[in-house]
Formats: sequence, structure tokens, C-alpha cells
Amino acid sequence: MWDFPLRLLGGLHYLVLAGLASWDDIGAALDEHREFLARWTEEQDVQTNEVQRAWALLPGFLTIADGRPFDLLELGPSAGLNLMWDRYRYRYTTGAWGTGALELTGDDRIPPPAEVLSRRVSVARRRGIDLNPVDVTTEHGSRLLQSFVWPDQTERLDRLRRAIEATREDPPELMRGDYVELLPGLLADRREGAQLVVFQSASTMYLGKDALGKLRAALHTAAREEPLVYLTTGRAPDDDGFALEVERYPDGRSRRLAVFDFHGEWLDWGR
Ligand SMILES: C[S@@+](CC[C@H](N)C(=O)[O-])C[C@H]1O[C@@H](n2cnc3c(N)ncnc32)[C@H](O)[C@@H]1O
Repeated sequence: MWDFPLRLLGGLHYLVLAGLASWDDIGAALDEHREFLARWTEEQDVQTNEVQRAWALLPGFLTIADGRPFDLLELGPSAGLNLMWDRYRYRYTTGAWGTGALELTGDDRIPPPAEVLSRRVSVARRRGIDLNPVDVTTEHGSRLLQSFVWPDQTERLDRLRRAIEATREDPPELMRGDYVELLPGLLADRREGAQLVVFQSASTMYLGKDALGKLRAALHTAAREEPLVYLTTGRAPDDDGFALEVERYPDGRSRRLAVFDFHGEWLDWGR
């Protein structure tokens, strides 16, 4: 199992966060919690949700907004922290956006235009579908997400904790399942008067060619009734970060909006 060390460290961090172990005596933790750690490393996938990606996604959402409230559907949301993107505050060199308690900022090497950041949006509904959705309203879910961010990544942990707090206030609707299979049914259920926006970050990269084809076929078919927009991360030139792409259905026309760091630390808008 290639990710065994990550799973083991995540399990240890989970115990430390629960107050059941200390980094100062890992030997004791391995002894005392042998059974827990054996089960955890066997059963618990590495599970993350990087809210910093919302800093790169936001100008994308603002670019595609058509004036109607958004009907959001995220593929592979994990805990859905990025489904709450309009609840955070953002800073770029060209301007700021939002009023939330958590501020996201980064290195905008090529910043988004100030005009884009002046746009206002509202969200009518937020749905997400994940093979392993994480419910951060529970202590276990919150601790699970934190356990896979290493304890010396203090800024990242702080950001995660504050995003969890914001999400707990009004959690999104998270469903368990394979989005490739369930997408047609979800796309048929539309919120009237709203703009359907399907989006994903760092999730479809795990799909094979057939599954990707099936996903896009579902978008094409659903959009024959009424157009929809798909905001997605794809491969960037030289694999240096993600490409942020917008695909408009039913025709599937694609445009690259930006390139950004895999974790959302830097952004090149318009590249
Ligand atoms: C690396 S995480 C990224 C989470 C989140 N999108 C983000 O940017 O932080 C990938 C997520 O996609 C989910 N996932 C992968 N393939 C999936 C599928 N076919 N159906 C549903 N969820 C899937 C995984 O369970 C995991 O939660």
C-alpha cells in the first residue's frame, strides 16, 4: 500500500488531536493504540479538503455568473468546504471580495481583473456527491480532516479549522456515491430560476477515460433541456499546477481561465 506512511501518520495525528497520544512519545502511542492504528491504516483512505483552492476558484465562479442565483453541484467535495466558497473573504492585489470570517489570500502572480471581483452572486442551493463524504458537524469528521494536515502546517490547519467552523453554521447537502453513476439523476433535479453550476477540483483526475467520457455525456444530455456550466480543474501546461477550465454545455465548448498551484497557493489568471 503506497500510502501506508500517510495513513499511519494520519492515524497518529487523529489520536493526538483526540488527546489520546502525544508526539513526544510515539513509541507509547504505537503500543497503546496498536489495534486502532492497524484498523485505521487498513480502512481509512487519505482524506483531504483544501479550502485554499477556493481562492483560485472564486474568480472562475464570478466569471461564469449570469445574474441568477447559483444552483451548485460539486463532484468529489470531500467535506464540502469549497461548496461554501461565498462564505469566505478573499484578497487579491486587484481587490477583495466577500465578508466571511475566514480570509483567503495567496500569490496572485497574474491577478484577476478588478471588474471580475466587483461582481456579486448568491447561492440558492449547494449539493455535493462523494464516495466518502466527511461530515464536519461531527467531532470525528472534523478531526478526520485535520488529521491529514501535518501538525507543523500551522497556517493550513488554522485555515482548515476556520473553514470547518463556517461550514458547521450551515452545512451543504452531501451525498454518498459515485458521481459518474449518479450524475444524470442529480442533473435532472434543477432549482427553478437558478443557474446550474457543476464544479470539481482535484477529483476527476482519479477517473479513467471511460468514466470521464460518461461524465461528459451526462453533462451534454442534461444540458439539452437547459444549458449548464462546468467549472473544472484539468492539466496545466507542463503539469505545473491545475488549469482552471470552464466548459459550457450542451456544446461542451471549453476555455482555460487560469493556471493555479495544486493547493491554491499561487494563481496566474488568464494564462
Ligand atoms: C483529493 S480529494 C479533493 C477534495 C476537494 N474537491 C478539494 O479540492 O479539496 C478527491 C475527492 O474526490 C472523491 N472522489 C473521487 N472519485 C469519485 C467518484 N467517482 N465519485 C465520488 N467521489 C469521488 C474522493 O472521495 C475525495 O473526497
